[in-house]
Amino acid sequence: MNIILLGPPGAGKGTQATRLVDSRGMVQLSTGDMLRAAVKAGTPVGLQAKALMEAGALVPDEVVSGIIGEALDALAVDTGVIFDGYPRTQAQAHSLDALLSDRQRTLDHVIELEVDENALVERITGRFTCATCGEGYHDSFKQPKVQGECDKCHGHEFKRRPDDNEETVRTRMAEYRAKTAPILPIYEARNIVSRVDGMADMEEVAMAIAAILDGKPA
Ligand code: AP5
Repeated sequence: MNIILLGPPGAGKGTQATRLVDSRGMVQLSTGDMLRAAVKAGTPVGLQAKALMEAGALVPDEVVSGIIGEALDALAVDTGVIFDGYPRTQAQAHSLDALLSDRQRTLDHVIELEVDENALVERITGRFTCATCGEGYHDSFKQPKVQGECDKCHGHEFKRRPDDNEETVRTRMAEYRAKTAPILPIYEARNIVSRVDGMADMEEVAMAIAAILDGKPA
């Protein structure tokens, strides 16, 4: 099964993708995570992406479609994939079609997380992750069970993203409205779009997504 999680910054795409990885053995392909790894490693892609990401602007289509193609090539064809943060433009949506069909894959679901944009700034500016395993946390909504210790790997170092400040978040939201939301009709025409209330509790969001993937009515 191949699915896209779609929604503005902070909608919960990464949170829900991680749960699907744990519960269903799917693979999460997050262009944001892959680009941050490239920035950290100082690769040519990372050098090209760094300033754009810090400003909240999109990285060129051919760069992100290139890294998605490489990531798909590393997977067995029957491995289920969650596209998290990709595609983000019409050009990327068309590239994804080609990347999938070249690899005998089909797109099964596009799940849009519907959220109240006003709440997203709080979600994003309160977000932090374990520096060791990447587990996600939030100052208000999901603190580690033991203060200062990661629930998953018991690491003690945490980090925050440089683009998680209010000004950049607002630019990222504007990019989403202008360039990403308009790709939905492509998938609506194929009847593969489902909508989930992304403002609900994380557990409820996960259950709603599971019901869609299992073909159960809401
Ligand atoms: P990317 O890393 O993809 O960032 P994003 O789309 O802005 O999404 P986020 O990771 O911020 O949010 P999320 O929806 O995953 O939310 P999360 O689950 O963490 O992209 C970063 C940059 O890379 C872009 O700006 C661009 O420059 C570049 N880029 C990436 N892909 C690209 C592409 N395809 N093309 C071009 N450029 C690209 O949740 C947020 C917080 O809320 C967490 O703390 C979480 O604990 C909490 N939370 C989640 N769900 C709930 C809930 N239901 N209730 C309460 N809290 C919740």
